[in-house]
Amino acid sequence: MTPLPAVRPRRLRRTPGLRALTREVSLSPAQLIFPMFVHEGEGDSEISTMPGVLRHCLASAVERAREAQALGVRSVILFGIPDEKDEVGTQAYAEDGVIQRATRAIKAELPETVVIADTCLCEYTSHGHCGHLHEVAGHWTVDNDPTLDLLARTAVSQARAGADIVAPSAMMDGQVAAIRAGLDAAGFGHVPIMSYAVKYASAYYGPFREAAGSAPSVGDRASYQMDPAGGLREALREARLDVEEGADFLMVKPALAYLDVLRAVREEFDLPLVAYNVSGEYSLVKAAAQLGYMDERRTVLETLTGMRRAGADAIITYHALDAARWLAEGV
Ligand code: PBG
Ligand code: ZN
Repeated sequence: MTPLPAVRPRRLRRTPGLRALTREVSLSPAQLIFPMFVHEGEGDSEISTMPGVLRHCLASAVERAREAQALGVRSVILFGIPDEKDEVGTQAYAEDGVIQRATRAIKAELPETVVIADTCLCEYTSHGHCGHLHEVAGHWTVDNDPTLDLLARTAVSQARAGADIVAPSAMMDGQVAAIRAGLDAAGFGHVPIMSYAVKYASAYYGPFREAAGSAPSVGDRASYQMDPAGGLREALREARLDVEEGADFLMVKPALAYLDVLRAVREEFDLPLVAYNVSGEYSLVKAAAQLGYMDERRTVLETLTGMRRAGADAIITYHALDAARWLAEGV
């Protein structure tokens, strides 16, 4: 006769109470960061590639941040969509640029909301690249060093508008050091840098580029964003450089296809770690839910919990407000 199991893990799974008691991973609204697109026009507009996400006008951005706050989502990250784009992304660092105005508006109404400003140029340049373009051996590419100055100017103007955190996402070498120096020189030594330290050249940004109108008009971002097949050595090297340059947070982006990278960065460094649950990850779930293929609520909470388990302290996610509502209802 087969012996009966002496050890029975199922004993601890019998009731919801027992399962809650023995849960190892937590997920709460305060760990979520809500991304918002803000444009300069009147009213909101829908984003065809991201059902449920809006391009907000200033007033509605404030209202949405208020709603987030009421749900316990205390942090937002802002992406600006300017009316005017040019070669050098002037509106990224204009004092009255759209992200600067949105930051001021939110901080004026909701001083306790943590406003994070995405620091990049691709939404502001006519060519859609994350910096200054130049030609090297017949190829157009982003000129690293002149871009550093533009990124530092952008971060300073965002800090001046009241941003609590700046989040450089351009993947230029030395950008964290340049921004740190720029902030310190301008009297913003207290403003932390959330570095998109480990950012891959990913197809998962597709819906975002439609939302922000920031797809590159020539070439792609593979000469500055990381190769998806790059591996852990490269990931840790990118993270280490940013730690040395003075980053206050590290980020891994995208999240879902890179959970191993998230775990590796978690184990190697002691800075707060952020996972970016990007637009494509959002849109996949929305599309499957709309088709009736998946249960949206369960899928989203399971995915976000997985990112926490992999090592994320915080998660940037377009699902933040829905997730906060679901968490309040109880899982
Ligand atoms: C800007 C930026 C991008 C995202 C965040 N910051 C776009 C890109 O690098 O092309 C993508 C976010 C998402 O897909 O949700 N550099
Ligand atoms: Zn960019």
